[in-house]
Amino acid sequence: MQGSHLFGVWRVVSKNMRSLKPFIILSLLFSFIAGHAQPVSKNKVYNKTNKPAWWKEAVVYQLYPRSFKDSDGDGVGDLRGIISKLDYLKSLGIDAVWLNPIFASPNDDNGYDISDYRSIMKEFGTMQDFDELLKGLHKRNIKLVLDMVLNHSSDEHEWFKQAKSSRSNPYHNYYHWWPEEKGKPTPRYSFFDVNNDAWKYEAGTKSYYLHYFSQKQPDLNWENEKLRNEVYNMMKFWLDKGIDGLRMDAFQYVSKDTTWKKYPEGYEKNIIKYYGMGPNLHKYLKEMNSTVLSKYNIMTVAEGAGSTLADAHSLVDANRQELNMAYHFEIMDIGNDPRGYKLPDLKKAFTKWDHSFADKGWLAIFLANHDVPRMVSKYGNDSESFRTASSKLLTTLVMTMRGTSYYFNGDELGMSNIRFNNIEDYRDIATINAYKNAQAKNEDLQAFMDKQKFISRDNTRTPFQWDATLNAGFTTGIPWIKVNPNYKEVNVAAEEKNPASELSYFKKIVALRKASRVLVYGSYKVFDLENPKVYCYTRSLGKEKVLVVLNFSDKETTYLLDKSISTLSAKTLINNYSGTVGIANNKLNLKPWQAIVYKLNKA
Ligand code: NOJ
Repeated sequence: MQGSHLFGVWRVVSKNMRSLKPFIILSLLFSFIAGHAQPVSKNKVYNKTNKPAWWKEAVVYQLYPRSFKDSDGDGVGDLRGIISKLDYLKSLGIDAVWLNPIFASPNDDNGYDISDYRSIMKEFGTMQDFDELLKGLHKRNIKLVLDMVLNHSSDEHEWFKQAKSSRSNPYHNYYHWWPEEKGKPTPRYSFFDVNNDAWKYEAGTKSYYLHYFSQKQPDLNWENEKLRNEVYNMMKFWLDKGIDGLRMDAFQYVSKDTTWKKYPEGYEKNIIKYYGMGPNLHKYLKEMNSTVLSKYNIMTVAEGAGSTLADAHSLVDANRQELNMAYHFEIMDIGNDPRGYKLPDLKKAFTKWDHSFADKGWLAIFLANHDVPRMVSKYGNDSESFRTASSKLLTTLVMTMRGTSYYFNGDELGMSNIRFNNIEDYRDIATINAYKNAQAKNEDLQAFMDKQKFISRDNTRTPFQWDATLNAGFTTGIPWIKVNPNYKEVNVAAEEKNPASELSYFKKIVALRKASRVLVYGSYKVFDLENPKVYCYTRSLGKEKVLVVLNFSDKETTYLLDKSISTLSAKTLINNYSGTVGIANNKLNLKPWQAIVYKLNKA
């Protein structure tokens, strides 16, 4: 990796320091500081601002601990379960694991409601288990990224218990309050509240507290310096253990407009514009960076990127010294309509964001996580005929775009939406409370249930499918959420044996990405943007050029490549079908959901 290469350069420089003439030292140091393994001026491989970094080259595997592997039969995944599967993680070829929250929590929102930031959730294990897990990952050269939930805590956190005990308690000011003598609070929208009301009355202090998420997730008051320092110390506690990165949950919301002005009618439809990027967000990020982040060689990624490209840049541009990268929601939002999406919209979104970050800043690339449906059910076709091909095609897209690849566990198997018929099967507070809300408003509950089959977060949170035994080998007990019945065919054991499986393809393409810097850093050029079926683009870096052709359709498609693309002696790097696809007169015949990556000779 580039980081270790730079470290090597530094060692050589240090060793010869004394014998070198001062001007040589200076120029070497300059080139080191500029971060150019190959000087930019000689071959314009990297642009000035997008310098190589380990976290840009990493494939990050998102692991949902609650559903990954249960070691003690209580039906809930745990750290010892993950430890028992470390060799599986290694076999994937990934560089880093991002764990969803593992801290003490009453689990109102599956760990995103933390009651003690410095201890491990009981159901998940102990601190010793955590230390062993970290060691086991590092031994296998896999880095660990933890999920920091800093916009809110649990209402069962000691801070909140103190805060609600009296207005004069020193912790009262760790949260946002509206005293009842000021009358009804200015309306604020809550994502998970049954009535979408973000203020909850607390009789003990005769005040309302703010909760953007559930009632059990009171928002922390970042205006309070004492709270901020406590948070920074807690972050150091985990970083000093040697973790390698932080995912900052909902961080764009931490700075509130504390004048509590009234927002216009319907503001909740454009919530990020009103809740995101508050007045002091950058002040807090800069403070956090100088106090904590800058002291460690870690990666940081913000969940959310504001509502404009400029917002996103303001979070991640290297010269701002705030965070490394962010993930925006535009692509995720495109697939949110159960009636489907238009491929040109997806292409335009990828293209817009890529172009905006071509010279400065860095993005996360992903098509799924624990908050959205399964990738193959949303953007592909999860019917038996097309699940394998379309899931491999989507994997190809994630692994061939510029940006750090984030990949959600189970997608490497082609896991798909479970589509529960009964509300009792759902576990997610977002779905359950939205159901109650729809019920109270006398809305069409069948329509609601149909939509959840497509959209609910629980679709993606079902147990990981290890094998064809009871409960897909996830647990010997009763799983906390039902297993997808397709586990008999879609599982690790079966797919490890099958060279044509999604899993085998995933390993191959991860290895390809890791071996080819053009797929990480190369510039991206899209062709035929309005084509409704085929997504075609090239990636170029120095003398290297790669062509990606993706047929987003259930039909065979003949595709004519742009005449500027020279396919002379093109070599197939990866293909999600067996055999080769010849290119005659720049024409290709693509099978349904076929994905091909070619190495081209750069003209
Ligand atoms: C974003 C997380 O990804 C989601 O799962 C959670 O419910 C909210 N933030 C609140 O923490």
